[in-house]
Amino acid sequence: MTAAFTIRPARTIDVAPIRRLVKPLADQRVLVEKEAVAYFESIQEFKVAEDRAGTLIGCGALHVMWEDIAEVRTLASSPQWRGRGVGSALLEVLLAQAEELGVSRVFCLTFEVDFFKRHGFEVMADQSAVDPEVYAELLRSPDEGVAEFLDLARVKPNTLGNTRMIRTLK
Ligand SMILES: CC(C)(COP(=O)(O)OP(=O)(O)OC[C@H]1O[C@@H](n2cnc3c(N)ncnc32)[C@H](O)[C@@H]1OP(=O)(O)O)[C@@H](O)C(=O)NCCC(=O)NCCS
Repeated sequence: MTAAFTIRPARTIDVAPIRRLVKPLADQRVLVEKEAVAYFESIQEFKVAEDRAGTLIGCGALHVMWEDIAEVRTLASSPQWRGRGVGSALLEVLLAQAEELGVSRVFCLTFEVDFFKRHGFEVMADQSAVDPEVYAELLRSPDEGVAEFLDLARVKPNTLGNTRMIRTLK
């Protein structure tokens, strides 16, 4: 039997449906809203899930932050497909990619704590995930996700209620 959905690297044509999927979640402040140009610039970070008809039903991205840390971001599945394995399949592909890239820890900022726990993530107890020298280097990044990882005051309104989680890869 053919699988109900497949996961593949994103293409530029996926930006519009990714944005349609993210928009309601961004309106609820579950995900961060980004300009279209930001999606095009980071399209190589994205994997998408599509159903048998080729309709986009999920997306997720892996953003490398440092030699040993990457972030899973913009992980989402269509409401009609929730609870059918799409989010898990996307997350596992992103984690495998992190391993291929040589990253040993993967961060996420989320309301979906139980989902990520089931995938080996733990709630971050403190800021000790990076050395002070790396922290100082990361401060130079213009990326909002990195600022959220560092828990900087200017992004606190975005992170309100979210949980910072991390998974160590084998
Ligand atoms: C988090 C999110 C991506 C999960 O997507 P999903 O497609 O529902 O994920 P799954 O179906 O793989 O797993 C969801 C649940 O269904 C169950 N499930 C998994 N595969 C299943 C299957 N084949 N059949 C039935 N149930 C299944 C799992 O037990 C899981 O339970 P849990 O959430 O309590 O761990 C989705 O809820 C979402 O888009 N949330 C909003 C965006 C967000 O918060 N993203 C995370 C921050 S980046």
